[in-house]
Amino acid sequence: MYQWNKQYNRHMADSRQRQLDPEARPDDRVDNALRPQKLAELIGQDQVKENLSILIAAARGRGEALDHVLFYGPPGLGKTTLAHVVANEMGVNIKVTSGPAIERAGDLAAILTNLRAGDVLFIDEVHRLGRAVEEVLYPAMEDFALDIVIGKGPSARSIRLKLPRFTVVGATTRLALVTAPLRARFGAVYRLDYYDLEAMKAVVARAAKLLDVHVEKGGVEEIGRRARGTPRVALRLLRRVRDYAQVRADGTVTQKVAKEALDLLQVDPLGLDDVDRRVLKTIIEKYSGGPVGLNTIAASISEEQDTIMDVVEPYLLQLGFLDRTPQGRVATKSAYEHLGLNYTEEGQPRLL
Ligand SMILES: Nc1ncnc2c1ncn2[C@@H]1O[C@H](COP(=O)(O)OP(=O)(O)OP(=O)(O)O)[C@@H](O)[C@H]1O
Ligand SMILES: [Mg+2]
Repeated sequence: MYQWNKQYNRHMADSRQRQLDPEARPDDRVDNALRPQKLAELIGQDQVKENLSILIAAARGRGEALDHVLFYGPPGLGKTTLAHVVANEMGVNIKVTSGPAIERAGDLAAILTNLRAGDVLFIDEVHRLGRAVEEVLYPAMEDFALDIVIGKGPSARSIRLKLPRFTVVGATTRLALVTAPLRARFGAVYRLDYYDLEAMKAVVARAAKLLDVHVEKGGVEEIGRRARGTPRVALRLLRRVRDYAQVRADGTVTQKVAKEALDLLQVDPLGLDDVDRRVLKTIIEKYSGGPVGLNTIAASISEEQDTIMDVVEPYLLQLGFLDRTPQGRVATKSAYEHLGLNYTEEGQPRLL
């Protein structure tokens, strides 16, 4: 019984792990297959692309490693994609890791000593690097040197290893949490913004072609419009709409089919989903429009604070549905209007 239990537990842990492991989910494998490989394949983000192409051409022209690059912006806009594109354009290897994955300074040292000249070290969620790890990263990025302490106590001495010139590409959804000294070591910092409708339509059309889904013009527009300016969301909606078209229609995604499918998924015409609406409704109905603190909102709707801050808020702010004040979050008049709720001047907090 005991044995069986142990095995069962291990099995459960494995299957949970599989659920968490992005490589194991077919949708994510599709995402990876859809990733643009070269700058020219990337849609939108024109300014970032232009700046990057200059940076890359200049480094290549001089035969040097690329300067360290930091990408920041909301999830799903293409930071990871860009890191791979940078490596491809430079014609170098990319080593992928992330802030929380590098637990000890020794882990980073092992990674760094395995890099070859010109290689890209992609550090996702760079704001979650530990202090001790960051201390090792500073001289590595700046002087391409690794300081190692050998021995303990009075006989301890420090030696300096030379590293090849390499490139750190960092990505973060929270620029404010990247420490100032780390930020200062990136030679180029690029902000990714939500994509405009034209770019979103192009993302949907490109993915539809690669996935071999027949989507009519109206369908492309409908999905693009409701994908909250985020390619990853567009790809997800496209897959769900494709399912709907296959089961409830003849497989072709017309505008009508896309509309019905997205309504059923509770994605509204501006791309707000259930969580977005719950956040707004909580502020409006429970806290009479705000101001209300993020932790209170999170607790009322049982969502993670991080999810609200990284995913929900940036889009609501962009739409002008939310204001951030020192006292907390406030729902704007447009938010009331979008939800079809009555907005009255009195009863609203006075904003100073
Ligand atoms: N400019 C683009 N053109 C076409 N497709 C894109 C573009 N940017 C991103 N995508 C697609 O969107 C998906 C999500 O992009 P990516 O994983 O790079 O986002 P991210 O910014 O790293 O997100 P996160 O912060 O969650 O890590 C990718 O699978 C990619 O196929
Ligand atoms: Mg990423």
